[in-house]
Amino acid sequence: MKNVVCIGCGYVGSVTSVAFAALGYHTVVIDVDSNKVEMINAGKSSLYEPGLEPLIQQVSGRTLFAVSTYEPIKEADIVFICVGTPSLVDGTADLTYVKMAAKQIGMALNPGKFTVIVNKSTVPVGTADLVTSILEEESGLQAEQDFAVVSNPEFLREGFALEDVMAPDRIVIGTSNERARKQMRLLYEPLIQLNSADQVVYFETDAKSAELIKYASNAFLAVKISYINEVAKLCEALNAHVPDVAKGMGLDSRIGSKFLQVSSGWSGSCFPKDTAELLATSFKYGSELSIVSAAITANLNMHLYCVDKIVRQLGDLRGKTIAILGLTFKPDTDDARATQATVIIRKLIELGAAIHVHDPMGMPMFSALNGDLPITYCNSGEEAAQGVDGLVLLTHWECYIKLDWQKIFLSMRHPYILDTRNFLDKKTLQELGFQYDGIGLGR
Ligand code: UGA
Repeated sequence: MKNVVCIGCGYVGSVTSVAFAALGYHTVVIDVDSNKVEMINAGKSSLYEPGLEPLIQQVSGRTLFAVSTYEPIKEADIVFICVGTPSLVDGTADLTYVKMAAKQIGMALNPGKFTVIVNKSTVPVGTADLVTSILEEESGLQAEQDFAVVSNPEFLREGFALEDVMAPDRIVIGTSNERARKQMRLLYEPLIQLNSADQVVYFETDAKSAELIKYASNAFLAVKISYINEVAKLCEALNAHVPDVAKGMGLDSRIGSKFLQVSSGWSGSCFPKDTAELLATSFKYGSELSIVSAAITANLNMHLYCVDKIVRQLGDLRGKTIAILGLTFKPDTDDARATQATVIIRKLIELGAAIHVHDPMGMPMFSALNGDLPITYCNSGEEAAQGVDGLVLLTHWECYIKLDWQKIFLSMRHPYILDTRNFLDKKTLQELGFQYDGIGLGR
């Protein structure tokens, strides 16, 4: 067993295909976008992710190939569906691309070969059954006997994608088909071998439970962040110090220290979409996950709480200018989809402020998605801060620590900083004369 095919070369598809190619499997990635196909074959990445492009360069043309036709399905042992599942207006996931991929795979399936089709994209519970019925209809073959569908959700974080894929905490395999289980285990064996024995937990379950594990995990993390963000607000009222509160909580191994970092709220292409889908599913089955609903509300309130903090400091925003540092939902990505910056900037503009922005990687995508916004894009943090009444750090890019803060202090009309990640050096900035404000710092 050695032929792997990945459908889609977006985030999950690019990283998954590169990882299997790096493990030595003959891997073909199929995408309708000929631009992306050409880029992969030229050793380039169509998205920014640390370490991804050098690895594509190493494997492209050797074990990794990109094409636009479904022809390679005929030779495939395992086919990963890695297409997008964006949110519909009611919060449910749009399965258009998954269905299209399933149809095309079905039409190309090889009757003489047992093929395993894997849902790698984050898909609603029940999608393995849906894909199975599409494949049966299109191929005329019999599920379980001629092919099997497996749920194998992806848990990678943008910015750490290769690390998460090559050294995962867990590999979750959802299927009740024994043959497919064996093939999946064989496929992942080299990856498990690469890591120390107790590092990667290989967990087998049924398809529906695997699908739910993905949503329940992302929603849990979103709840955890919203919880510490609300605790941070309480810290402000009580004059307590949220970094210490988070640290003290995290020392309990049942709680854990990760995902207790304060922010202006979680965002990005996963948490908003996945919490909305999980909530919609829970409504559909009459079993509302009220805690997820509360986290979504708390998260929007957190974005607006940051705007309130600015207004409390600067008063009427009409005629004032604010610099925003960071447009991506977190550092080390160029992904500016559905970020907290969009909500906060729109609200500040509504209140009359003029906006300068800077982000080391995210400005092209942010401007493409928010072309209607009257904002000034700047080449550096220093340029964004020129003449402004307040500066707001939304994304904790490492490069912002090294800005010329003295120069920034001298160039701002009013030296107010809101550091929503409690990331900058408060003491140094205060010594320079800044009016520094974090979230929940208390002292
Ligand atoms: C998330 C999950 O962490 C991955 O496990 C999952 O595979 C992925 O979604 C997915 O479904 O594909 P990602 O969206 O890349 O990964 O980003 P995270 O690192 O989880 O951050 C999400 C948001 O929460 C960001 O806005 C981040 O800044 C914020 N965050 C994170 C905090 O505000 N505080 C924290 O302590 C951690």
